[in-house]
Amino acid sequence: MNLKDYLAERSAIVDQALDRFLPKAAVKPPTIHKAMRYSLFAGGKRLRPVLCLAAAEACGGGIEPALPAACAVECIHTYSLIHDDLPCMDNDDFRRGRLTSHKVFGEGIAVLAGDALLTVAFELLTAARGTPRYPTAALVRELAYAAGSRALIAGQVADLEGEGKKTTLSQLRFIHESKTAALLTAAIRLGGMSANATPAKLEALTAFGKHLGLAFQVIDDILDVTQTSEKLGKSAGKDVAAQKATYPALLGLEKAREEARKLTAASLDALKPFGKAGETLRAIGEYLLQREY
Ligand code: IPE
Ligand code: IPE
Ligand code: MG
Ligand code: MG
Ligand code: MG
Repeated sequence: MNLKDYLAERSAIVDQALDRFLPKAAVKPPTIHKAMRYSLFAGGKRLRPVLCLAAAEACGGGIEPALPAACAVECIHTYSLIHDDLPCMDNDDFRRGRLTSHKVFGEGIAVLAGDALLTVAFELLTAARGTPRYPTAALVRELAYAAGSRALIAGQVADLEGEGKKTTLSQLRFIHESKTAALLTAAIRLGGMSANATPAKLEALTAFGKHLGLAFQVIDDILDVTQTSEKLGKSAGKDVAAQKATYPALLGLEKAREEARKLTAASLDALKPFGKAGETLRAIGEYLLQREY
């Protein structure tokens, strides 16, 4: 399998579904719908929805039943980026290769575009039909928990509160688990749930997601110090400037790289119960370790 082609093909499927699910740009008031679409269709990697669909397939399901959940996760992710970039948070001017939402639409509309994406995520998740083991309410609960104050928001709070402070490794791990690994794990679990995964398979997907999500944020932190803004499509070097708690800051670049390798290996290990059916998830995991943006 050519992973690059695979990712492009799957991203296109996700983009088409998002376009169908989201209110058109002309819907009144057009400002908000333009702003939502501006950030959503700015060229994100679509990693979470792609993982969601791949997890469904690994559990023997099709991608169609997993699409509402995949799109819902991408809406939440995009909202979290719009708010993450606000002047009161990371204060970033660039995202996904373009100016950040608040730079184009102003802070008020950027806050509201984030709010609207967060809300529409749950509206479109109700289009997921649910399976014998996992009714639609279980999917909604899964996503609500991952996006909420015990997971993603918890991580963003700890990230902000950690700025300029000495952080322990366990505090840093909490930040990464919460702000990044929780939603990534939910994306993968939701794929499994939409395929009516057995409890054992869902457990395996959970372990895969947790380790992959941690690896993903460690790599994001590494890229922030090693890559250019052009390559990343967002401002590089921001974490040092903001004195963020990161693996490179705490352990140095080499140990951070080693940590990313170990976490990736642990994630791939968790896929063993899937045998051949886990090959695509494995390939995505390996690719993410090598990614340059
Ligand atoms: C960036 O996520 C924010 C983190 C959680 C590290 P991505 O690197 O997946 O961003 P996009 O979706 O491709 O823009
Ligand atoms: C973002 O982490 C995590 C969420 C948006 C939940 P970062 O602040 O490191 O992400 P980037 O580097 O701005 O994409
Ligand atoms: Mg941040
Ligand atoms: Mg940021
Ligand atoms: Mg970052």
